[in-house]
Parts: sequence; C-alpha cells; structure tokens
Amino acid sequence: MSAQGMRVMILKEGSERTTGKDAQRNNILAAKVITETIKTTLGPQGMDKMLVSGMGDVVITNDGATIMKELDIQHPAGKMLVEVAKSQDNEVGDGTTTAVVLTGELLTKAEKLLDQDVHPTVIVEGYKKAAEKALKILQSLAIDIQPDDEKVLKQIAITSMRTKATAGTSDHLANLATDAVRQIIEERDGKITADIDRIKVLKKKGEGMDQSELVKGIVVDKEISHPQMPKQVRNAKIALVNAKLEIEKTEFDAKININSPDQMKLFLDEEESMLREMTESVVKSGANVVFCEKSIDDLALHFLAKKNIMAIKNASSGDMEKLAKATGGTIQASTKEINAQALGEAKLVEEVKIGDDKLVYVRECKDPHAVTVVIRGGSDHVVDEAERSFHDAICVVRNAIEDHKIVAGGGAPEAETAKQLRDYALQVGGREQLAIEAYAEALEAIPLTIAENSGLDPIDILVDLRSKHASPENKWFGVQIKTGKIADMLADNIIEPLRVKLQVIKSATEAANMLLRIDDVVASKGGGPPGGMPPGGGMPGGMPGGMPDM
Ligand SMILES: Nc1ncnc2c1ncn2[C@@H]1O[C@H](COP(=O)(O)OP(=O)(O)OP(=O)(O)O)[C@@H](O)[C@H]1O
Ligand SMILES: [Mg+2]
Repeated sequence: MSAQGMRVMILKEGSERTTGKDAQRNNILAAKVITETIKTTLGPQGMDKMLVSGMGDVVITNDGATIMKELDIQHPAGKMLVEVAKSQDNEVGDGTTTAVVLTGELLTKAEKLLDQDVHPTVIVEGYKKAAEKALKILQSLAIDIQPDDEKVLKQIAITSMRTKATAGTSDHLANLATDAVRQIIEERDGKITADIDRIKVLKKKGEGMDQSELVKGIVVDKEISHPQMPKQVRNAKIALVNAKLEIEKTEFDAKININSPDQMKLFLDEEESMLREMTESVVKSGANVVFCEKSIDDLALHFLAKKNIMAIKNASSGDMEKLAKATGGTIQASTKEINAQALGEAKLVEEVKIGDDKLVYVRECKDPHAVTVVIRGGSDHVVDEAERSFHDAICVVRNAIEDHKIVAGGGAPEAETAKQLRDYALQVGGREQLAIEAYAEALEAIPLTIAENSGLDPIDILVDLRSKHASPENKWFGVQIKTGKIADMLADNIIEPLRVKLQVIKSATEAANMLLRIDDVVASKGGGPPGGMPPGGGMPGGMPGGMPDM
C-alpha cells in the first residue's frame, strides 16, 4: 500500500487479495460447481459417483457426506460446503445431498439479487427471516407418529435406503435397521432415546446383501485362538483382560548364561510356572471364556484349552468396550485382578463360520440393548455402500423415534414451505421480500432436481407442483417417480423424519449466509489460491441439464 509516495507493507509479500463483488462471485462460483456435481445423486433415481483417491482406492457411493469428504476440495468456499454435509451427517445422518444442493441454490439466487444491486446484508437478513419461518412452517406441517409404530418406522428406513444403490434389497436392510434401533431404545425421565452407537455394524464380504443379519449380542471378527478349545460355551462367564498372557520381554538386552541342561530345564520350568499362574487366576475366577486385548502365549492357550476355557486373543479395544457394556463385565488390566465379580455374562458364545472366515458370536448378553448387524454383500464396494446407507437408515429411524414427528418426502415439504414462504414474503415487503422469495425458489430446487434426475421436464413439474400446492389439501404433493406426475407422497408412503428437514434448513442457511457476508478474501503465500478455483482442483465442470432459469 502506498500513501504520499511511502510504501507500507501490511500483508506478507506474495499474499493475494480479492475484494468486494469479485470475492463474492468467486465464492458463489465455487459453491455452484460443487452443487452441480453432487446434484445428480439426489433422489431415488440419482446417479452414483465413483471417486478414486490419490492412492488409487475406489469408492462408489451416492452418499452426499461421503462424496464431499472424498472430493478433497481445496477451495475455501468449497470447504464450507463440505462442512455443511458433515454437520448434516453428524446431526441427523441423512439429507446431506439436500443440504448441499439447498446451499448452492441459495447462493445462486443470491447472485441474481446481487446483480440487481440488492446489498448482501439485505439478502442475509431476508434469508434469516425466511429460514426461521420455514422451520415454523415445517413444524406445523409435521405429522405425529407413535414411536412404537413398526410399520411407519420401517417405511422411513425404506425411503432413506431406496435412494441408494442398495435399493434392490433395501426392504431386508430396512427391517434390520428398524429392529436394531428398536432393540436399543431406552426410556429416561419419560423421554425415549436411542443411542445408535450401541449398534455395532460389521462388514463381511461374501453371500448376498439379503444374508445380512441382526444378532442380539456382539459379534467379534476374530476366531478362537486354539483348536482344542470348545467351539460353543453356554451360560458363558466372560473374563475381559487388557494384559498380555505372556512372559514380558525386558526392555533392555539381557544375557543369561546357561551352562548345563539342568539350568536350562529350571529356566523353562520357571517360565511354564509363570504362565500357569496367569492362567490359574482365570480358572479360579470361574470364567469359561476369555477375551484378551493383547496376545496370549501358546503355552497359556494350551493350559486354558485343557481347562475347557475358550479364549480369543488380540480383540480390538472397541470390541472390548462393547463387550464390557453388553455383558456387564469389567476390563481387567492385569491377570491377577480377575475375579468372579469382574466377569461378564452371556447365554451363548460360539464360533460361526461365514464364508472362509470365522467370527465369534456373543449371544443374548446380560444387557439386551447390545446388538450387532452383520452386513453381507458380493464385493467390498457393495458392502461399503450398504453400510453407509444402513447408517442413514438407523439415523432416520432414531430421529423418528426420538421426535415422533414425520413429513412426507419427494420434495413435497419443500414445495409447500416455498408456497407458504411466498405468502409470508408479501407480509414482510421491502427488499427483504425479494430475498424471501429467492429462498422459496431455492427450496423448489429439491423437487425439481428429484424430477430432473428421473428424466422429467423440470418446467412442467414446476408448473404442476405450484398449481397443486395452491390448494391447502394438496400439501403433501411431490414428485411421483413411477408415473412422472405430481402426486400425494403421503399416500405413497414416502416419509421422512422432520428432524432431517429442519436440519437441512439450518445448516444450508448458515453456510450460505456466512459466504454472502464475505467481501474480502486474503490468501497468504503458500496457502490455497485466493478466491479462485484451485489449479486443476479435481472438480468436474457443471453437469449437463442444470436448473431452469426462474
Ligand atoms: N420414492 C421416492 N419418490 C420420490 N422422492 C423420493 C423417493 N424416495 C426418496 N425421495 C426423496 O429423495 C430425497 C433424498 O434423496 P437422497 O437420499 O439421494 O439425498 P439426501 O437424503 O439429501 O442425501 P444423503 O442420503 O446422500 O445423505 C428426499 O427429498 C426424499 O424425499
Ligand atoms: Mg438420503
């Protein structure tokens, strides 16, 4: 910077700066490109993306959060969209694509207003008001359900899963998701909660997805450590040990001079008696199954096998924690501490062969809330995507059980909210009215994108959608894929939890408003490119068939 011929350096040499409209437009452009990319995955007819990492790993997915994560976006504004997807995924588990598409649309509509010289702060205020109103509208639209209504819960799971590649067998997985969540429900202070971390999901390649199963208990992806141990233990008393059942090696190099065979024998005998002592404490505690987080010496395994005790070594710490919770046992840090009180309980522990692999099933644990879902599928890609859509399904079922409020899907709630927002915009008036109307248009992008992805004409759909929603009794009308018409989504049983829709509004509005407030992008040297697109940033150009101009 120079004033009266004097040069003052404020930023580090080489820093780049974009200000005012340029900064806004750069950010909006980045968001638009990402939105166009992800848009084609929305809805039941949405396409999948194949993402190849620098290491050559391939991920095939339809899940918005996964796509955003794997894209490795460099642009600072693009990174905010990744955050939108992440927060949507963490908070409610589903609706990540919808949230990203809505953010992109809000920014696209804002750009048009900026062109008309509407100040960004007016747009931000208008969007804020629109979002607050939209949340109220959605809440007033929502339908109450009974949290134990199995049919409705299953339908919610199906709606969420049908948009993924797992669609063919989604009914079976949806059943598993509903049953799994129902199994872990707890009632605290009159409030129903479902902690989905209690559901262990285990992926196992092989067989078909319809062979996936729900196990009441914990499944550990390990085999029994010694061939002579029992393969099945009923009324199991389970010791959980986080200590080596081995002779500790010294940390420094030690040398022992053995001069005679007698000394050698003495040495070995001593080792044996130490190992025997370790196993003796397990035997004394009354345990008939041992899960050990560390390794177990072959001789110790042999001693345990002789006592008819089943042992599993090198169990993961995650599994140990889950086992402790499920069986009511406590993890012991040393073999000496094992006692009867520390043991966990389960009706049956058995080794089961699945394909070429062996797994250990701990069935009917003391705590009935522990469940495992074993997901099967022909290839790693299939199993991975099934796990992702299963995660979405358990999240939506949990949301519906905890809030017991649902809305219909297929773009119906977005279309109805848009309609009511337009009425509200007239009441607000002024320039903010323009922003609220823009918000309504952005919401309509959801049904339009679902329609477009099914090969329908967006203009026809938009006209039909608006005319249907003019009458209040048509509030649940959305895009019916099989007929290509606008129809009642509630009657079609396309239902979603209210929580997903509320979170979409919250996260998309926050992100769009934050980006709109930026009028200065300063990038220091060595950082990513300022405001502009990253060099060859791996972002494909716009997808064919964008939104119609409205
Ligand atoms: N059979 C159906 N007919 C019409 N619309 C449907 C149908 N099933 C689901 N939808 C709609 O599809 C949209 C969800 O699509 P999708 O699952 O691809 O995206 P998302 O939930 O936003 O993101 P993600 O699942 O990747 O986190 C919702 O608006 C939902 O109502
Ligand atoms: Mg979804």
